[in-house]
Amino acid sequence: MPGPTSIAEIHSENYRFLQEHVYSESGIVLEADKHYLFESRLTPIVRQLGLGSINDLCALLRATRQAEVGRQVVEAMTTNETYFFRDPAHYDGIRTVLLPRLKEDRRDTQTLRFWSAASSTGQEAYSLGMLLLEQGLGDWNIQILGTDFSSGVLERARAGKYQQIEVNRGLPAALLVKYFRRSGLDWQLSEPVRRMARFETVDLRKSMRSLGPFDLVFCRNVMIYFDSGTRKQILKELHGTLFRGGWLLLGGAETASGVEEWFQKQSVGNATVYVAR
Ligand SMILES: C[S@@+](CC[C@H](N)C(=O)[O-])C[C@H]1O[C@@H](n2cnc3c(N)ncnc32)[C@H](O)[C@@H]1O
Repeated sequence: MPGPTSIAEIHSENYRFLQEHVYSESGIVLEADKHYLFESRLTPIVRQLGLGSINDLCALLRATRQAEVGRQVVEAMTTNETYFFRDPAHYDGIRTVLLPRLKEDRRDTQTLRFWSAASSTGQEAYSLGMLLLEQGLGDWNIQILGTDFSSGVLERARAGKYQQIEVNRGLPAALLVKYFRRSGLDWQLSEPVRRMARFETVDLRKSMRSLGPFDLVFCRNVMIYFDSGTRKQILKELHGTLFRGGWLLLGGAETASGVEEWFQKQSVGNATVYVAR
């Protein structure tokens, strides 16, 4: 029976193989110092498949190119951290600047379209849904699309069921009481919010223009995993999905430099927004 060290051991050629596999399948760049990440995230797959080590997993992938296992490996290497009302300044900007304008501009059609690109388990899409309901837009035609590369997180997003620890992060108590009900140890999001959002698998590196046009796109805390070429290509595609004047919101550690021809950077309160030209 191999010990934990041998299970997690990764030969250097296999480390490069895994880096290349994750990059080609998702665009995620994992540097040479991410041994611990590969070890901790791939060991459960090794055990589940009854293999002896991560090296065996690489041998299996090389020999059979099993799409299902290959995908499982990439999904295990994605970081899915998210929480309700992450970067509150973004939601303040939407409430105080974007929505008043959209209420005026769209008063004829009363239709608004939003996109949470790289939505993970749905907290971003549903935070927006709750905000829109709180702003009296419940009888408008609101469409919130949530997309992610990983089908596992999307299943959770669709279910709209969250653990106590997840609702403790960022969600004001008043909104928890108003929009969730207890379901065993978890919290179930109410139908009116769930109905506003739908979730689909989308790889951000593919053409996305047919998904739009949107009034607002969140693409937060995912660009940091890509190289500059991939980032630029995605920003160009995102621009193509936005209405003119629509907003792109990026994560706190992300910027859209070198894309001035597509976006104008603006400060809205404490938030930075990228306005589509
Ligand atoms: C850290 S989460 C960000 C969640 C949310 N946007 C937030 O800021 O709280 C990053 C997400 O990006 C997704 N992702 C990674 N590569 C992707 C790709 N090529 N296309 C689409 N989604 C991707 C991951 O599956 C993960 O759920």
